[in-house]
Amino acid sequence: MAKFIRFCLFFMMLTISSVVGDGDYAYDYDDAYAPAPASIPASTSAVPAPPPASTSPVPAPPPASTSPVPVPPPAVVPALFAFGDSLIDSGNNNQLFSFAKANYLPYGIDVGGPTGRFSNGYTILDQIGVLLGLPLLPSYSEEFNVDTMRFGVNYASAAAGILDVTGFHFVERIPFSYQIKNFENTLVNLIKNMSAPIVKEAIPKCIFFVGMGNNDYLNNYIMPVYFTQDQYSPQKFAELLVHQYKAQLTKLYDLGARKFIITGIGQMGCIPSMLAETSGGGCSESVNKMVHPFNSKLRTMIMKLNKDLAGAHFIFLDMEYMFKDIFKNHKVYGFSVIDRGCCGLGKNQGEVTCLPFEIPCANRDEYLFWDAYHPTSAVNLLLGRMAFYNDANYSYPINIEQLALI
Ligand SMILES: *[C@@H]1O[C@H](CO)[C@@H](O)[C@H](O)[C@H]1NC(C)=O
Ligand SMILES: *[C@@H]1O[C@H](CO)[C@@H](O)[C@H](O)[C@H]1NC(C)=O
Repeated sequence: MAKFIRFCLFFMMLTISSVVGDGDYAYDYDDAYAPAPASIPASTSAVPAPPPASTSPVPAPPPASTSPVPVPPPAVVPALFAFGDSLIDSGNNNQLFSFAKANYLPYGIDVGGPTGRFSNGYTILDQIGVLLGLPLLPSYSEEFNVDTMRFGVNYASAAAGILDVTGFHFVERIPFSYQIKNFENTLVNLIKNMSAPIVKEAIPKCIFFVGMGNNDYLNNYIMPVYFTQDQYSPQKFAELLVHQYKAQLTKLYDLGARKFIITGIGQMGCIPSMLAETSGGGCSESVNKMVHPFNSKLRTMIMKLNKDLAGAHFIFLDMEYMFKDIFKNHKVYGFSVIDRGCCGLGKNQGEVTCLPFEIPCANRDEYLFWDAYHPTSAVNLLLGRMAFYNDANYSYPINIEQLALI
């Protein structure tokens, strides 16, 4: 039945239309190694309101917020530029002709309404930005505004991938290579406003957050309609992705970027949409195995870039480890529901993702998953704090706080 429903939905997407989110990552049931809970400063609060924008030129950081989320002293980086998919999209797809959108309730239910984020509230990027002392990032799709965009811009687009073809069945999306072109446009606009020397000096101090690859599996390799599996073994496909990713990251380096946060893929086989497909309701180990070569090759590639590109500082966020920790220690972190979406239909609430005006679960802070593909806001805030403060198991070789201070 589950397979049949999914088949029908997929067929609808190809013929007429369908509201389907795109996907991402999750926890692992595998207790092969058992992480201890992270030793981050405890907090259950929401991301606080961003600090007021200052009126100084770009390198000046905004004042630190006075929120309950632990916030370091005033920003040590001038700006944060973000590239990625639906895990961090905050509105770019709202403007596209795309079936991968989150511009309807109950998305955003805990922050006063839908924003385009694929969550009930915030994303991991929002939390990291706040911990850096920066205001919430505007989406690239907003009209250029130097007052907000000098603190950074979010270029992420749901359904986008490292490969341009990825996510084509959602129709419009902004692949990573086009997100980089959009960053170049921002550079031109910033330079127009405050001169090339000032921008050139600031960019190496900024942080570049890049989280790609999820859709190259979920909305390409795994989907028969792309015929990718006929051409590539999992190993060969991971090589293709990492080769392309390396060229794209090097392009950002050539544009002046020096401080990079790169995220790995989590346990994709454990998200509610995958749980709904396995006969026992457990993780799809074949999917987990399929994405693993990407993570290991990506990590190796990044560490090589640290050696080969002068002055570059790349760090790798081990999403797999973080989700293992959260899953293993979910009670310590306050999560009681770990195997189904808060908003969604069918088995594990993972067969059909969160539909417009669907009534979500009430205790959202106790769920790991918000919909069939994405974590809840509570998990995103936790992930952000883990990556910011914790040891090399979470963020390798250093954490985000240390990267910011370089
Ligand atoms: C990482 O995790 C392992 C196993 O849980 C632990 O022994 C180690 O101390 C942790 N920290 C670092 C920095 O590796
Ligand atoms: C830069 O932008 C600010 C704020 O919008 C504006 O007041 C100023 O005139 C602009 N400067 C230039 C040189 O375009």
